[in-house]
Amino acid sequence: MIYRLAQNDLRILLLVKTVLALETSCDETGVAIVREKNSSSGSDLLASEVASQVAAHEKYGGIVPEIASRNHLVYAPRLLNHASSLANIGLSEVDAFAATSGPGLASSLMIGASIAKGLAIGFGKPYLAINHLEGHLLSPFFGSGEKENQICPNVSLIVSGGHTMLVRVQGLDDYKLIGRTVDDAAGEAFDKVAKILGLGYPGGPEIEKHARGGDPNRFDLPRSMPQSENFSFSGLKTAVRYLLPKITGRFCETPDEERRLTQTPCKMDGRVLANLCASFQEAVIDVLVRKTIAAAQKYRVDLVTVSGGVSCNQELRKQLGEACAREGFEFKNAEPWLCTDNAAMIAFAASLRLRGGFQSDVAEEIDPNLALAK
Ligand code: KG4
Ligand code: ZN
Repeated sequence: MIYRLAQNDLRILLLVKTVLALETSCDETGVAIVREKNSSSGSDLLASEVASQVAAHEKYGGIVPEIASRNHLVYAPRLLNHASSLANIGLSEVDAFAATSGPGLASSLMIGASIAKGLAIGFGKPYLAINHLEGHLLSPFFGSGEKENQICPNVSLIVSGGHTMLVRVQGLDDYKLIGRTVDDAAGEAFDKVAKILGLGYPGGPEIEKHARGGDPNRFDLPRSMPQSENFSFSGLKTAVRYLLPKITGRFCETPDEERRLTQTPCKMDGRVLANLCASFQEAVIDVLVRKTIAAAQKYRVDLVTVSGGVSCNQELRKQLGEACAREGFEFKNAEPWLCTDNAAMIAFAASLRLRGGFQSDVAEEIDPNLALAK
């Protein structure tokens, strides 16, 4: 839990200028340093280092928690050194240390949180436990100069590999859940469909690449729960699975055979693959755009934001941006490098929270199921 500083502690805030954050919620190790310019003109990113573990997990067909946490332990100290030399700042000069405290893999979260707590205790500086989803949610505001700390009311779409949710944001730390996925997250659907098609991991960029030039209306794929504020993507993934043999003529007699076939690259005509990827991508985007616009209209906000790994997708950015312009909403998205997991968004969220007078107790535990909003 993050608590508000007592009046006496406010003097710390006057000194707080530089925040170092670690992000180790899943299989990406991130370290970033952000420096507040002054209370009214935004912040500078001094360093943002990310070490990806994709190659270490690829051969297992998914993330292996123990491998992820062991790798965090190897990468984090190196990234700390690298970030501190890039930023040209010693760790003793950092004014506050932050880490992602959830949601995520327990054994991974523990590495980043333990390092940040150790640094905070060692240097006698504040520690901030940051919700990973809050990092994503605030990322579209990062780099907007003096408007950076004005988190105005908005409807926020968070679309990542682990989460798909619409959040009503009233201001910093004032979040209400509008809707969420009842099964797979949008990014998870991209990853699973890419696997079915024999494409690489992560699946989102692979599907986006193959979808270019494809016909998004070639295959009629389902849009689930059209009347609900919640999302569902597992039916869409199943629809692709059942469509595939019809397209390729590869019917499987047994689940074993299907597993074997789906683990080998599809020998599909390039044109058909492009059409299938484009149709799948369109089905996901169509649902995301419709529900986000409906929520923005219902809650009468002026601003729509989008964040999380799937928001790297150029077609989603384009269609959501166009729909917002058509319906009269301002639209903000983060730079693509800030959409996938990174520590800069955690450092930014921590620096906003510090400016708002918050810090955490070093005794605070990580929480793999940490909620952003109820
Ligand atoms: O936010 P993120 O890095 O990690 C989580 O918090 O989950 O998101 C990773 C997800 C993966 O599922 C990946 O396939 C998806 O984001 N993704 C994309 C694109 N780039 C990454 N999905 C669609 N199009 C992309 N260009
Ligand atoms: Zn994420």
